[in-house]
Amino acid sequence: MQETEEAKAVLSDRILSLAESQTIAMAKKARELAAKGYDVINLSFGEPDFQTPQYIKDAAKQAIDDGFTFYTPVPGYPELREEISKKFKRDNNLDYAPDQIVVSTGAKQSIANAVMCLVNPGDEVVIFSPYWVSYEEIVKLAEGVPVPIMGRLENDYKVTAEQLEKAITSSTKLVMYSSPCNPTGAVFDEEELLAIARVLEKHPQIHIIADEIYEYINFGEKHFSMANIDFIRDRVITINGFSKGYAMTGWRVGYLAASREIASACDKMQSQITSGTCSIAQKAAAAALKGGNACALEMAEAYRRRRDLVLDLMNEIPGFKTYLPNGAFYIFPDISAYFGKQYEGKTIESALDLSMFILSDAHVAVVSGEAFGAPQCIRFSFATSDEKLTEALRRIKNSLAKLQ
Ligand SMILES: Cc1ncc(COP(=O)(O)O)c(C=O)c1O
Repeated sequence: MQETEEAKAVLSDRILSLAESQTIAMAKKARELAAKGYDVINLSFGEPDFQTPQYIKDAAKQAIDDGFTFYTPVPGYPELREEISKKFKRDNNLDYAPDQIVVSTGAKQSIANAVMCLVNPGDEVVIFSPYWVSYEEIVKLAEGVPVPIMGRLENDYKVTAEQLEKAITSSTKLVMYSSPCNPTGAVFDEEELLAIARVLEKHPQIHIIADEIYEYINFGEKHFSMANIDFIRDRVITINGFSKGYAMTGWRVGYLAASREIASACDKMQSQITSGTCSIAQKAAAAALKGGNACALEMAEAYRRRRDLVLDLMNEIPGFKTYLPNGAFYIFPDISAYFGKQYEGKTIESALDLSMFILSDAHVAVVSGEAFGAPQCIRFSFATSDEKLTEALRRIKNSLAKLQ
């Protein structure tokens, strides 16, 4: 995005205050290299490389033929909300009634709805860091103040209850995290979430956005939801969706579940911005849930295998500090050992510099950590084939060996 002086004179402070995507320069360079005929391997994607399962596609075709082409209720078709309610019971042992569920155009909109409905200008929002890029910008759009707190690599990047306690002030309104986490793949277990909930128990003004969009892509213990903790449940907004688990990124269906007050506020917010999600995508999403989650778990098994492959290969690269990601399809090593090293007279000063070097020398696209609040890291997605992953890591290892 080019914000010229002319554009700045026209555009609102709101849009000008948003960060530009750090990945734009990378994506542009990757495209240029590919156009020149280089074989660029892209490990920057935040989406499954699998097709949406056929039974879900079939349901969408059927929905068109059956005439589901009209506006839908703002919070989603009753049938879909009923299926989501059953899913919460089946997978998470949570009792969310359909009227506590709002379906949106992707989980991103669910998060934006919740933040817009809860945050007043100046309210502080504690964001567990490394965090998904959009959290901070959505909070800024709501004129809230993002307060990132950084999990330590030794703790698989998971923020602890003690760290949270120190970050809370009388202005804290909201806490946000994802588990499994994008970009680290870290998964909070029951004990860790309970410790966090005990801190929040003392601060009844604080709500919690628990982003569980990667729920099904979990290689460790059974997924645990913050909303399973009774004494805090009413203050939790549980976010989930179809993009990652069911490989449905382009369909744009996500949802939140919350207290009736918050759900109906989100319904009101959405009614003035986008209305109900695409009718066909909603019918497909309902079919996805009716079919169970076997397809999602099968894809998760492929990601687990790839995680092991990438971790083995990455552990052979000097200077990459790794850990075991227990979910999602990313690994986020600390690569700061390369800062200060040189190649052809140029010094690597940041994760962005190293990502650019990896792209231009190894022809592998990755995402540098600055955008996730972690300027010492790089995110590698392993949502691609074993062959590409093996070749990408081979090339990266060779390129990094050139740095002095
Ligand atoms: C942690 C996290 N939350 C939410 C989303 C948004 O997903 P959706 O495609 O449903 O908008 C993403 C997508 O990358 C994500 O990584």
